Amino acid sequence: MNTPNDTPAGQPGEAGGTADGRRAGEDLITFTDVTKRFGDNVVLDDLCFGVEANKHVTLIGPSGSGKTTILRLLMTLAKPDEGTIEVDGEYLTHERKNGKLVPAGEAHNRAVRKKIGMVFQQFNLFPNMRVLRNVTEAPVHVLGMEKDEAEERARGLIELVGLTEHLDKYPSQLSGGQQQRVAIARALAMRPKVLLLDEVTSALDPELVAGVLDVLRDIARSTDITMVCVTHEMSFARDISQKVLMFDQGKIVESGSPDKIFNDPDHERTREFLSSVH
Ligand SMILES: Nc1ncnc2c1ncn2[C@@H]1O[C@H](COP(=O)(O)OP(=O)(O)OP(=O)(O)O)[C@@H](O)[C@H]1O
Ligand SMILES: [Mg+2]
Repeated sequence: MNTPNDTPAGQPGEAGGTADGRRAGEDLITFTDVTKRFGDNVVLDDLCFGVEANKHVTLIGPSGSGKTTILRLLMTLAKPDEGTIEVDGEYLTHERKNGKLVPAGEAHNRAVRKKIGMVFQQFNLFPNMRVLRNVTEAPVHVLGMEKDEAEERARGLIELVGLTEHLDKYPSQLSGGQQQRVAIARALAMRPKVLLLDEVTSALDPELVAGVLDVLRDIARSTDITMVCVTHEMSFARDISQKVLMFDQGKIVESGSPDKIFNDPDHERTREFLSSVH
């Protein structure tokens, strides 16, 4: 049992613990000395950072600074050249065998990957499946959930994203904003501990952006999912995140609360970047 005395110093008022027994304030995601190169291009440079459980972190920074690469590493779509990444107490792409850290087998990677959901700029829905089936497909086939249970949960998630009247439509019959909301419901259907969002509104017509951001604000408020978000929507970042990390050339320039980073950054590079996106 956690007691208020378990609360890390400096964070009075933190909830003592979460449903799975982790202590609030503990990192759910940890990057340790992560370097990623493409040829001679060092895209992430000896990167160290953590994301606390149940918190929402926004990554900002200029094009090419490595934000998407971080999310792709978390999805195991790419591997670090050096360093390790831990999610919920397990290594990504590594596993412990006989006390040694070795490259992970596919079974280990699959198990860790299930903890992480991602929504991309392009929605990538299954075009030949109706909305409901887009949301039930992975829970049934990857998690082995009963079809009835998967459908019941999917209906709830589709309601959450405001698409109940579109359950039986195909993706091509929906607007971009509606498709993106299906993609969000589909990611949540896998009950991820971590939700990664990569510029999820940047392919949308401007009038559709607010609806998608409202759905995400709602999810941030009403669930305990840890979120890592890349966005150029600074007011959204301010609303949902407890922490903002400013990247440049694969390094963290500075990090802090949205208030600090957006109102009073320490670094000229951050000021310069923020004035270019406002
Ligand atoms: N598959 C790849 N092969 C070669 N280089 C890559 C690959 N993926 C990314 N890069 C390079 O890595 C760097 C970081 O790219 P990344 O997509 O992470 O940037 P970003 O911060 O997400 O940028 P943006 O804001 O434009 O989305 C860039 O220089 C990019 O050209
Ligand atoms: Mg990117």
